[in-house]
Amino acid sequence: MSKFWEDYPQIVEELDNVNTLIKKRIQTREKYIEESILPMVEGGGKMLRPAFLLLAGKFGNYAPEKMQNLAAVVEMLHLATLVHDDIIDEAKLRRGCETIQSKYGKEYAVYIGDFLFCQCLLMLSEYDYTTENMRDLSKAIARICMSEIKQYSLRYAKNMNLRNYIRIISGKTAALFAMSFYGGAKETQCDEKLARLLGKIGYQIGMAFQIIDDLLDYKGDTALLGKSAQRDLKRGYYTLPLIYALEKDKEKEIPQILASCSFTNEEVEKIIQLVQKYDGLTKAQSVADRYVFKAFENIKKLPDCESKEVLSVVIPKLLQRRY
Ligand code: IPE
Ligand code: IPE
Ligand code: MG
Ligand code: MG
Repeated sequence: MSKFWEDYPQIVEELDNVNTLIKKRIQTREKYIEESILPMVEGGGKMLRPAFLLLAGKFGNYAPEKMQNLAAVVEMLHLATLVHDDIIDEAKLRRGCETIQSKYGKEYAVYIGDFLFCQCLLMLSEYDYTTENMRDLSKAIARICMSEIKQYSLRYAKNMNLRNYIRIISGKTAALFAMSFYGGAKETQCDEKLARLLGKIGYQIGMAFQIIDDLLDYKGDTALLGKSAQRDLKRGYYTLPLIYALEKDKEKEIPQILASCSFTNEEVEKIIQLVQKYDGLTKAQSVADRYVFKAFENIKKLPDCESKEVLSVVIPKLLQRRY
């Protein structure tokens, strides 16, 4: 696990339990499954979604075992989306290790992602979770799939704009963050108003988180990130820094390079410089800051408790992250 939660030993202990549950689930007679997934489980994921689910659950009647199992479901679901995302993105590195698709091939990676999805359903069926939680989790998966399709269909699109970008990231990332908060609260019988407030906070954090992820793709360091930087541009994904830079680039310097739909490393460097020149990075950062500000306004409305304090400290850390 990454050092993200190191100041909170209790959360670390619970997240260790979550990882133990996941590890049990990947032990099958088919050796490739455990062998391929284990490095991801042990490879330094930030465990944000399960931790947020547990923190949200602590606003209600918290039952550790049941909640840790649900947290494992959310993390496995996230793992499944990463395994499949890495196939589509032809990514080589994930959590500091070679991706499953690169090491074992796409064919294995598709089935391994599917296996993880199925384990989520199995785990959900083993406890008496609310039907709302099952429904919301299924909806979150559907939204991730739809948004990934939209993102793919808009590769290299000349008409890529802010509206499409916001729709894509709200589905592919914020939906699962929102679900982790809302689902965690609902499962511990928090009242609907509080659960909705937590869900809203999750959504806002998720939006900021994906914008920062996209910023890090421009300015991040591959070694620190544990995944390759400057991939989005090469794959034709035009994210917020570029969208803003394009708006300001009256000389049309960037579109001239983008016209070819395939960029050399020098062209990628040039686009990054131009994105900087036209304030794309600072403007994208300010949008992320705005989402975090809104999340904070909502955090203030939460009843006082330890989870509230943890959220207040951890969220600024998320904004400053470099990995
Ligand atoms: C990666 O999520 C996918 C995005 C939504 C950007 P994380 O950055 O939370 O990945 P891990 O779990 O720490 O590896
Ligand atoms: C996140 O998108 C994928 C999902 C949320 C399913 P990215 O493609 O930006 O994630 P990374 O950068 O590969 O982690
Ligand atoms: Mg990716
Ligand atoms: Mg990314």
